[in-house]
Amino acid sequence: MTIDTISESTQTSKHVILKVSSLSKHFKGLKAVNNVNLSVKSGELIGIIGPNGAGKTTFFNLISGFLKPEKGSKIMFNGDNIVGKRPHKLAKLGIARTFQLVRPFKFLNALENTTVPHIPKNTYVSSSVLKNKATWSLIEVDLAEKKNYPAFILPHGDLKRLDFARSLAVQPQLLLLDEPFSGLSHEEAFRVERLIRESNNKGMTIIIVEHKLKILMRLVQRVFVLHEGRLIGEGSPQEISNNQEVISAYLGSEAKEYV
Ligand SMILES: Nc1ncnc2c1ncn2[C@@H]1O[C@H](COP(=O)(O)OP(=O)(O)O)[C@@H](O)[C@H]1O
Ligand SMILES: [Mg+2]
Repeated sequence: MTIDTISESTQTSKHVILKVSSLSKHFKGLKAVNNVNLSVKSGELIGIIGPNGAGKTTFFNLISGFLKPEKGSKIMFNGDNIVGKRPHKLAKLGIARTFQLVRPFKFLNALENTTVPHIPKNTYVSSSVLKNKATWSLIEVDLAEKKNYPAFILPHGDLKRLDFARSLAVQPQLLLLDEPFSGLSHEEAFRVERLIRESNNKGMTIIIVEHKLKILMRLVQRVFVLHEGRLIGEGSPQEISNNQEVISAYLGSEAKEYV
């Protein structure tokens, strides 16, 4: 048995954490997500790429309950159909996401920002438990010393990590990251990359939407490619960079430079 086949068989022993079938979302006549079928195994680190407007953020909005898909769509999380469940409910079940555009509560400090969004409606959670989780996640993202700073004075790089901390605080099984490297300096991006690797090494399943392909392709194990709402390719970064349809829809002649 080669090392490759060993790691493959370890992979197959993991259960399917997310499986979407016939997933669609239309905005008036526009098919933003068009009949997507895919599945992700527990512990995988996945990338989603595709041109602007391909439906990547809409896909995340559907999985995390911010949008409701068309009839006939199925989203199975750990074997349960989660279509129609609200974001708070899904966070409780183990799905968290970050946003392409960070949107903190400007006048709350970093610690409060990490705590407040996770108080589910009609649920009592002791504030000390929440505070402990928030403090732990701020330490994880290296923002602990700024926990009392109001969000409006934090630079963009800190806000991206604050958003990350907010999703870590719910200790998700599945984490959806929407352009986690956008607007970051080389050094800040490296920090976030390390954070993603560490979370994945601890067993968290992570799906990343990203345009910075160099960093994404070295980070993820498998890539899905969306184009005009459709899934047009899936495979290892190496396979994706050799996929003709993906090259003509998105990667272009630079495809080989990313892997
Ligand atoms: N709330 C919305 N209402 C109408 N159209 C939308 C909405 N959200 C996204 N779209 C459209 O759906 C398509 C996919 O958008 P999006 O998922 O944001 O793409 P991506 O994240 O891949 O750039 C785009 O054409 C976008 O304009
Ligand atoms: Mg987007």
